[in-house]
Amino acid sequence: MKDSKTTQDAAIRAMEPSDYDDILVLWKSLPGMGLSSADEREKITAFLGRNPTTCLVAEREERIVGTVLGGWDGRRGYVYHLAVDEGLQEMGIGTALMDEVERQFHVLGARRIHLMIYRDNTAWAFYEKRGWFFRDDKISLMSKDLAKK
Ligand SMILES: CC(C)(COP(=O)(O)OP(=O)(O)OC[C@H]1O[C@@H](n2cnc3c(N)ncnc32)[C@H](O)[C@@H]1OP(=O)(O)O)[C@@H](O)C(=O)NCCC(=O)NCCS
Repeated sequence: MKDSKTTQDAAIRAMEPSDYDDILVLWKSLPGMGLSSADEREKITAFLGRNPTTCLVAEREERIVGTVLGGWDGRRGYVYHLAVDEGLQEMGIGTALMDEVERQFHVLGARRIHLMIYRDNTAWAFYEKRGWFFRDDKISLMSKDLAKK
């Protein structure tokens, strides 16, 4: 049984560009987030413009206590930056954010969604309990850094 500060106290809503300062504080407070130049204000604002229904915050007592970014490219959905305030973890807020982003992806027509997670991040256990599975047997991630404009 979770304690009295259950998710009912945290409302899930669409992320707004004006949330940026608060979400950056949250992201910087958490290990395992892997922030990069893609997280600069203008990049996040553009991402929200492209993905207005799949980028969410959890709000509690007028404070942002959780986030998830969902990116839909018309083929697959990608989940980034699931994060819950350290003092409010294990109360169901992460689950509520994932339930809602999955629902929103489904509305858009996504039938499979992906995420990337650092190998040393134990949050994989959170995802596995919620139906996510590793693809290491068949798929590896490849990346390439493109020259700056
Ligand atoms: C991962 C995270 C978002 C989960 O949020 P949360 O609000 O604590 O999750 P919930 O309360 O909904 O779920 C708790 C359940 O997940 C498990 N869980 C949560 N975080 C976990 C973690 N980091 N490692 C292992 N298990 C975890 C709990 O044991 C609990 O299990 P139960 O359902 O059997 O009781 C949160 O731990 C977090 O912000 N971590 C730091 C940022 C991060 O690593 N994000 C993932 C990037 S890929």
